[in-house]
Amino acid sequence: MRAALLDRPAPVARRNGFAAHVHDAGAGAVGIPGCCRYDGGNPDRDEAGLLRYYVLDAASVWAALSLDVKAGERVLDLCAAPGGKALILIESLRAAGELVANDRSPTRAQRLRRVLDDYLPPAVRARVTVTQRDGRRWGVSRPGSCDAVLLDAPCSSERHVVAAPAELAKWSPGRVARLVQDQYALLTSALLAVRPGGRVLYCTCALAPAENDGVIERLLERGRHRAEPRPVELPVGAPTRYGWQMLPHRDGCGPLYLCRLQKLP
Ligand SMILES: C[S@@+](CC[C@H](N)C(=O)[O-])C[C@H]1O[C@@H](n2cnc3c(N)ncnc32)[C@H](O)[C@@H]1O
Repeated sequence: MRAALLDRPAPVARRNGFAAHVHDAGAGAVGIPGCCRYDGGNPDRDEAGLLRYYVLDAASVWAALSLDVKAGERVLDLCAAPGGKALILIESLRAAGELVANDRSPTRAQRLRRVLDDYLPPAVRARVTVTQRDGRRWGVSRPGSCDAVLLDAPCSSERHVVAAPAELAKWSPGRVARLVQDQYALLTSALLAVRPGGRVLYCTCALAPAENDGVIERLLERGRHRAEPRPVELPVGAPTRYGWQMLPHRDGCGPLYLCRLQKLP
């Protein structure tokens, strides 16, 4: 596991569905919709100035697709920067629907705006609103306003902890406990923001079970928010108690944990 974390799994290049492409559709196919092998370098631009592909971990693509966004929906990406998953969500909306992409950090929200400007034609970009709010309070201010919410929560990200001594120095069990508090607050906010019958996809790149199934367990045990985990079945990874996990040494991508929840009426 440690070796696989240090030796990052090869990312994939996901085609920008709004850009014009010159390559064959199936070039370097990796078995993930819209993705091919990433051979290095920076993405080029089409004639309209749109970047042609976005480089990200294959597990992130599977996570964004697992929210199962449909045309015309109102979708919220609660912790959206830098925006790789947001690009997948807006493509899934097709010709109709709206995305709110939120990130509390001003610098990261700025980066998110740049990504959206680089990848989306103006008419599509106009359907994405970027906000810079504390996601923990989103749900109380706009309850029931969305059909689906992606919560890609801030987490321990052990990949960075093992790779950088400075990150290792910041790690402590207390830090995990603080992150769990935030993750739980973000998750309950996401559940308030979604309409009854709507979906929330909770995900992290943490390995610590407390930040993954642990957060879902706390939600179910407290029982204040009526929601149920829904099964996920992906071509890579394995089930956990409430969700699904992709691990680099086993699956060649991740780490990424996800749990799909449905808000009950
Ligand atoms: C894992 S990253 C999101 C990655 C992003 N979804 C993507 O695919 O590119 C988590 C993000 O959560 C943001 N964040 C942390 N706490 C937050 C909060 N309370 N409200 C909103 N955003 C928050 C961080 O600034 C960070 O950009």
